[in-house]
This record gives sequence, C-alpha cells and structure tokens, in this order.
Amino acid sequence: MELFLDTAEVDEVKEIASWGILDGVTTNPSLIKKSGRDFKKVIKEIAEICDGPISAEVTSMDSEGMIKEGLELKSELPENVIIKVPCTPEGLIATKELSSRGIGVNVTLIFSASQALMAAKAGAMYVSPFVGRIDDIGHEGMDLIAQIMRIWEQYPEIETKVLAASIRHPTHILECLQLGAHTATMPTKIFRQLMKHPLTDSGIERFLSDWADVENAGNA
Ligand code: E4P
Repeated sequence: MELFLDTAEVDEVKEIASWGILDGVTTNPSLIKKSGRDFKKVIKEIAEICDGPISAEVTSMDSEGMIKEGLELKSELPENVIIKVPCTPEGLIATKELSSRGIGVNVTLIFSASQALMAAKAGAMYVSPFVGRIDDIGHEGMDLIAQIMRIWEQYPEIETKVLAASIRHPTHILECLQLGAHTATMPTKIFRQLMKHPLTDSGIERFLSDWADVENAGNA
C-alpha cells in the first residue's frame, strides 16, 4: 500500500518526506499554477526529495504531443519521474507508446471502471480514479474504487496499480485502502489529519505534566 502526496509545494513534500512514510508525489497543471513556480524546476526538486514515483502531467491533447512531452520530461528530469496523461483515446495511444519504452505512465481523470480497464490494457503503471470529484456531483466516488477493485480481483494478471485520487478527507483514505486500492494520493492537510488524534494530544499533555511533578518531587 502506497501513500502519495498530491501537491506542487516543495516545502510540503519536505515535511511529509521527513516522516519517512512518503511513497510518491502527484502533481497536475492546477497544482503547478497554485505553486506559482516553474514546472520542471518544481518537479526536479520534488523528485530529489522523494525517491518514489513523481507524476508530471503533459498538456498536449494529441498523442504525438503527449509522447514528445513525455520523452522530453523523462530526458530532462530525474529517473523517478513518471508521465501523467489524461484518459482519452489519444492518452491511450501515448500510454501504449511510452510504456512500451519502459516509461511509467499514470493515466489521470478516470471516472469509470471501463476507463480504468482501457488504461490498464494500454500498459499504464497507475490509473487514477478521482473519488472527490464524483462526490462533488452527488454520486458516491468510493463505488468506483470498489468496482475497479472487483474487476482487478477477477484478472490477477493486471499489473496496473489503482491510485485513488481527488481525496477530500481522511475517511476517503481509510475506505479506499479497505477496498484494496494499491495507492492513494492526498493533500498535505490530510496527511496531517491522519496522524492527529485529540486523545494523543491530551495524553501527551497529561504525561508531561505528571512527569514535571515527578521531577519537582526529585524522584526522576
Ligand atoms: C491526482 O493525481 C490529482 O492531482 C488530484 O488528486 C486531483 O484532486 P482534486 O479533485 O482535489 O483537484
């Protein structure tokens, strides 16, 4: 089971990587825009902090352009960068070509099990179903993860990992991992929330205060 960070903020990658449990990072054009920084510089810095797969997304909409961008990114950026392409027929063509050259591809913007299956057949390393954006339009995003995982169970030869994306809260993470998703990518806020519990905080407060009493009494 892999936990990825969904961000283009280098400081956030540093923070979560320092915990020792960060398996990879996903970015997208909107996250790059939010960072206000140069795309390739950001990806390079992130890939030097985290040695897991770092998704860099292409913006061409034709397969030729996607392949060209993917090859350029692979030649200019660290080895652990993988190429993110949209789930369209052109994206499938690019996925097939890039993966046949040994390049990892993350097929993104997946909203149906059939799209996930097609991307897997094209050789994707990851397929990214967007849970939160399905919830946003009034449907149950987690049902898509369940459906994809049921299909994957029937065909153990599928090597493509299911990367649950567009995660909105900690419960999403627990649910998709219970369904067997191989990977989940989440914003930094959710990584922090996963580690937070008020009883841990109050427990530490009590232990520290009792220990201060022990020291004051000279029993330490
Ligand atoms: C995943 O790779 C995407 O970058 C991301 O999870 C999209 O999430 P959003 O729906 O919160 O924008």
